Amino acid sequence: MKNRVFSGMRPTGRLHLGHLVGALDNWIQMQDTHDCVFGIVDWHALTSEYQDVEKVNRNVVEIAIDWFAAGLDPERSIVMIQSQVPQHAELHLLFSMIVPVPWLERVPTYKEQQQQLKEKDLSTYGFLGYPLLQAADILVYKADTVPVGEDQVSHIELCREVARRFNNFYTPVFPEPQAKLTKAPKLPGTDGRKMSKSYGNEIQLSEDPKSVRQKVLTMMTDPARVRRHDPGNPDLCPVFDLHRVFTKEQGKEWAAEGCRTAGIGCIDCKKRLLEDLIPVIEPLHEKRVKLENNVAGLKETLFEGSRKARVIAEQTLDEVRQAMRIKYT
Ligand code: TRP
Ligand code: SF4
Repeated sequence: MKNRVFSGMRPTGRLHLGHLVGALDNWIQMQDTHDCVFGIVDWHALTSEYQDVEKVNRNVVEIAIDWFAAGLDPERSIVMIQSQVPQHAELHLLFSMIVPVPWLERVPTYKEQQQQLKEKDLSTYGFLGYPLLQAADILVYKADTVPVGEDQVSHIELCREVARRFNNFYTPVFPEPQAKLTKAPKLPGTDGRKMSKSYGNEIQLSEDPKSVRQKVLTMMTDPARVRRHDPGNPDLCPVFDLHRVFTKEQGKEWAAEGCRTAGIGCIDCKKRLLEDLIPVIEPLHEKRVKLENNVAGLKETLFEGSRKARVIAEQTLDEVRQAMRIKYT
């Protein structure tokens, strides 16, 4: 039997290149080697976007388009919507009986997010429970492998502690899942800071090639390279960070050497990057058009994925109810 994977994303907006390199590429590869379940976690989005429910609703379709265009394959993986599998919520509730509140208050992202999103009231019950709902997402499929970013490691640790506590109190039902981190470095956005929607510096997966060109050609470079004859330092240049991820070895060497010796200009360097970057974006763009033209079919695919997910999740809940003696037959 293959190892089971679960991972999810909150439907809060369109995805960008950072998501592709940091998560999606990893997921797509795992489809060959693992039994994968990928969730559009709309309840997790609601923990912070509870005043903008219309946006969350729209973004479920948007994120599904981004996923399928990038290469998630509903024939090989289960692609589901969290809220359509109520077993996630039932397991979350049962876990809430055994998890001490300080375990949740201690999770570093809890206070960090409250600080960062000051404009939102995140003093809610649901927001405190965010990582516990995440543990339920994973454990309801008995997933043992969770491809996530560095920022999620503390959540996966909590997930393991919850699994251990349940198994100790009752009977062993759950594995102790491990995070599987991506090797890809963080991508910079057009202004040199980390690529992120909140900075408005991102290159979206849905962007057309023309606009990708435009963004790269105006992207920030090594600030020391003011004039064409000033040598630059690729290690200090966000454009070169993109070369590292997207450009083939030869091109990378050419760009680094040309930069250090002022043998090439920044525009030459960026055009070389585009030669390898545009072919990544272009096919996504073409697939997207098809998906956008058949949103009803796309939703049906998500419902079908959710149906398959419910079957697995219900088996787990059956064991859980039995373990907690709330199965009355
Ligand atoms: N918290 C994750 C994030 O913000 C999203 C998520 C929800 C998730 N449930 C999950 C990731 C379960 C992995 C497994 O990125
Ligand atoms: Fe950056 Fe390339 Fe310009 Fe060097 S030549 S500063 S790596 S864009």
